[in-house]
Amino acid sequence: GKGKYPFYMEKEIMEQPDALRATMQSRVVNGKIDLSADGVPDEILKDCERVCVVACGTAMHAGLVAKALVQSKLGMHMNVEYASEFMYSDPVIDEKTLVLAISQSGETIDTLEALKYARKKGAKSVAVINVKGSSIARESDYVMYTVAGPEIAVASTKAYTTQLMALFLLVGRMAKVRGIFDDATEKAYLDSLTKAPDKMQEVLDQKHDIHKIAREMLDAKDAFMIGRGLDYSILLEGALKLKEISYIHTEAYASGELKHGTIALITENTPVVATVTQSKLKEKELSNIREVQSRGASVVVFVKEDFDLADAEYADVFELPAMEDEFMVFPASAALQLLAYYVSMDKGLDVDKPRNLAKVVTVE
Ligand code: F6R
Repeated sequence: GKGKYPFYMEKEIMEQPDALRATMQSRVVNGKIDLSADGVPDEILKDCERVCVVACGTAMHAGLVAKALVQSKLGMHMNVEYASEFMYSDPVIDEKTLVLAISQSGETIDTLEALKYARKKGAKSVAVINVKGSSIARESDYVMYTVAGPEIAVASTKAYTTQLMALFLLVGRMAKVRGIFDDATEKAYLDSLTKAPDKMQEVLDQKHDIHKIAREMLDAKDAFMIGRGLDYSILLEGALKLKEISYIHTEAYASGELKHGTIALITENTPVVATVTQSKLKEKELSNIREVQSRGASVVVFVKEDFDLADAEYADVFELPAMEDEFMVFPASAALQLLAYYVSMDKGLDVDKPRNLAKVVTVE
C-alpha cells in the first residue's frame, strides 16, 4: 500500500535512497565494482568499440546521462536513441557494438523490437531492467536488474534513479577493465557513488521548501526548463515528469540554443526552471538565465550549494547538496521529481494515474 503517503509517487520518491543502496549493494565487493553476480562478462565491456542505448521516455533519459559518462570517462562514442526511432534510422551496428536496453517494465514493445534488431546485426546486449523475467530481460544476452521494487505510480521515479545507479556501475566497470581506472580512481568514483543516496535524502528532507516553489507554478500554461550538458539531460527528465502529471506544457531546452528562435516564447507568464550543477557550464548557464529574465520570465534556480550566484535576483533558489559534478543528477532529480509531484497534487490531479497514460506500453 501507500502507507502514510497520499500517493504512490511520493512513497516511491521517498524510497529512492534505499533503492539506490540496494541496487549498489551486490555489485560492490571488497570496495570494487563486480558484475559477476549479473553474469556480465568483462570481455564484452573490454572489446566493444561503440555503445548504444535503446529505450523510451524516462529510461531513455537515463541513457543520456550514461552517454555523458561514457564519453567523458571512457572516451568512447555513444548514441542514445528512442527505441521507436532506432531501426528506422539505419543504425550502424555490428559485433563490436554493445547495446544497452533500459526499461523498468521490461515489456515496452519498441525497446524489445529495437533490441531484437540490434542482436540480429550481431551486437552484444546488456539490459537494465526492473521487472524480473520480463520479455526484454529474456531477450537480452545479459541483464542487470535494478532493485527499485515494484513501481506503481505511472510517472517513473525510483526506476529512473536506480537505472542511473546500474549504469554508473556498468561504466565504472568498463573503465576498470579498459585500463582507464586504476584502483585509486575506482575507489574515488565508488566513494562518490556511495554518497548519492545520502545526498538525495538531504533533498527529500527539504521537501517542504520544494512544495513552496511548486505553489508558484500552479497557474502556468507553459514552462521551460533550461540548462546545458548534463543539466540539460536532467531537465529533459524533469520536464517529462512535470508534463505528464501536471499537464503544464513544459519544454526542456538546451539553454544556449534558446536565442536561435525559441526565446520568442518567453514572457512574464512562462516560469523557467534552471539547474546549475556543472562547474564548466555555470557561467554560460547564468548568462542564459539572464537572457530569459530580461524577457520578463521568473526563474527558479536549483544550484549546487557551493556555486556562487553572485548578487543576481531569482524568483527562488534551492541549494542542492554538493557532489562531484557528474553525480549531481541524483540530488537534482529528487528535487525535480518533488516539484512535479507537488504541482500535480496541488492542482488536485490524480498524481498516480495521469490521463491518457499506461504503466506498460505494449503497442508500437
Ligand atoms: C515516464 C515514464 C515513461 C517510461 C517509458 C518506458 O514517467 O514512466 O516515459 O519511462 O514508457 O517504460 P519502460 O521503462 O517500462 O520501458
